[in-house]
Amino acid sequence: MLVSGKSVLQKAQEGRYAVGAFNVNNLEILRAVIEAAVEKKSPVFIQTSEGAIDYAGIEYLSRMIKVAAKAPVSVVMHLDHGKKLKYVRQAIRHGYTSVMMDASHLSYEDNISITQKVVALASKKWVSVEAELGMIKGVEDKVSVDEKDAILTHPDQAADFVARTGCDSLAVAIGTSHGAFKFKQSPKLDIDRLGQIRSKVSLPLVLHGASAVSPKMVEIACRYGAVLPDMMGNSDEEVVAAVRGGVCKVNIDTDLRLAFCAGVREYLAQHPSEIDPRKFMSLAKTYMKEIVMGKMDLLGSANKINN
Ligand code: G3H
Ligand code: 13P
Ligand code: ZN
Repeated sequence: MLVSGKSVLQKAQEGRYAVGAFNVNNLEILRAVIEAAVEKKSPVFIQTSEGAIDYAGIEYLSRMIKVAAKAPVSVVMHLDHGKKLKYVRQAIRHGYTSVMMDASHLSYEDNISITQKVVALASKKWVSVEAELGMIKGVEDKVSVDEKDAILTHPDQAADFVARTGCDSLAVAIGTSHGAFKFKQSPKLDIDRLGQIRSKVSLPLVLHGASAVSPKMVEIACRYGAVLPDMMGNSDEEVVAAVRGGVCKVNIDTDLRLAFCAGVREYLAQHPSEIDPRKFMSLAKTYMKEIVMGKMDLLGSANKINN
């Protein structure tokens, strides 16, 4: 069933687990995610970025997600990284139950005022709002404390931001970054900073850039022709530490992209005369579903259907 982001995150916070938020761009990804959620009896965020909306169209995406949400699990239809009000308004009009206003690239005061505007728009329709504070990008060890403070979410500023905007959840920057090249040497998140943020704000926190950059999927993709050097993602241990530290929503896109790519490459390499996309996308869907089910176990959302 389609439910609000706020209710799913409140239950996750009470139960001390996190809900996976998976980026979808087409039917195969969507079906992999929803089938995994049903099999794992897990609540799930199904999210579309502005890029997904440009690619597939919000009419198609929102209707497909509403069909998926007929499944017997809680589904939040979420706008990921809304940067333009145009997309936020469109999402609310199309029945999204949660939107992200990502104005983290603007000045602090501008981030506050645009987030306030979205909270006012969304609350009229019972839509929950995720906001972002700090820059979601990797930070090297040699960076000074002052520089770190300029990039990562500052605990005191988080308290002020949440109080002034009234957002429902907050995406924090603690050293993760988007994509497949998150770290140069070894994965390292600022879990201490997360603890300080947690002590200043009580709302559910969100971890972006949370993919592991699945070594298994990288290996399969490379075995069948991909060239993917120097990729590095998060360790499962640190993601679990972040969940223990108050993260209730964990965003995953890159691991799905890798699984899709690995599945298509493997299938076509083994069936070189196959031209039917329904066939060559089937293994991709199987691999994506495996990834999603693994995340649901890792984050503790499996079997939380009735919680
Ligand atoms: O945070 C970014 C997500 O991975 C979505 O990426 O904007 O290329 O759809 P995208
Ligand atoms: P990854 O690139 O680590 O999958 O992060 C996805 C994300 O944060 C989407 O908002
Ligand atoms: Zn993100």
